[in-house]
Amino acid sequence: MQATAHAPQPVTPAADPAMDYRKALSCFGTGVTVVASRWDEQDWGMTCNSFASVSLDPRLVLWSIRREASSLAAFTQSGGFSVSVLSQAQQPLARQFATGSMAERFAGVPSQREASGRLRLSDALAWFDCDLHQLVEAGDHCILIGAVRSFGHSDAKALGFWRSRFVQFEDMAA
Ligand SMILES: Cc1cc2nc3c(=O)[nH]c(=O)nc-3n(C[C@H](O)[C@H](O)[C@H](O)COP(=O)(O)O)c2cc1C
Repeated sequence: MQATAHAPQPVTPAADPAMDYRKALSCFGTGVTVVASRWDEQDWGMTCNSFASVSLDPRLVLWSIRREASSLAAFTQSGGFSVSVLSQAQQPLARQFATGSMAERFAGVPSQREASGRLRLSDALAWFDCDLHQLVEAGDHCILIGAVRSFGHSDAKALGFWRSRFVQFEDMAA
C-alpha cells in the first residue's frame, strides 16, 4: 500500500520577522565544517556551514564570515584558509569551534599542518587547503573565495545541520 501523500502546511510566521527569516534559512540543510587559518603566529578556527563549491576548473570554493567575528582579520588578511568537513564522530568539535579562545578550540584536537602553514583537522570527512582568491563584501558578511591547492577525503559518515540542529546524513539507498 502506498503511503498517503502529506501536503506540507505553511508554518505560522514567528512574531519577529528576523527570527522568521532565520527559521526559513535553517530549512536548507548543509554539512558542517571547521575553517582555519594561520595568522599573527597563531592558529585560528571556527565552525562554518556556509561552505560551498563555486567552480570546478579552476577549483574554487567559498564561505562567508560575519564581519563582526573576532577572527575576521585572520581569515581576510592571512592569504588563505583550510576547510575541514566534519564527520558524525566530530560533532563535538562543531560546538568547540564556535565558542571560546582559539587555544581552547584547538586543545586536544588531532590536526595536521599543511605546507601552507595552515592546520586541518585529522579524521575529517574531507578537507581543502585554499589560497585566498577573492574577497567580496556583502552586507554584514564577507564572502571568501578560495583557490584549492590541495584536498583529500575519507569514507567517514557526514555530519549535517538542519533546522538549527546537528543531524546525521544517512545513505538511504537500499
Ligand atoms: C553550525 C554552525 C555554523 C556556523 N557557520 C558560520 C558561518 O558560516 N559564518 C560565520 O561567520 N559564523 C558561523 N558560525 C558562527 C561561528 O562559528 C562563531 O560565531 C565563531 O566561532 C565566533 O568566533 P569569533 O571568535 O571569530 O567571533 C557557525 C556556528 C555554528 C554552530
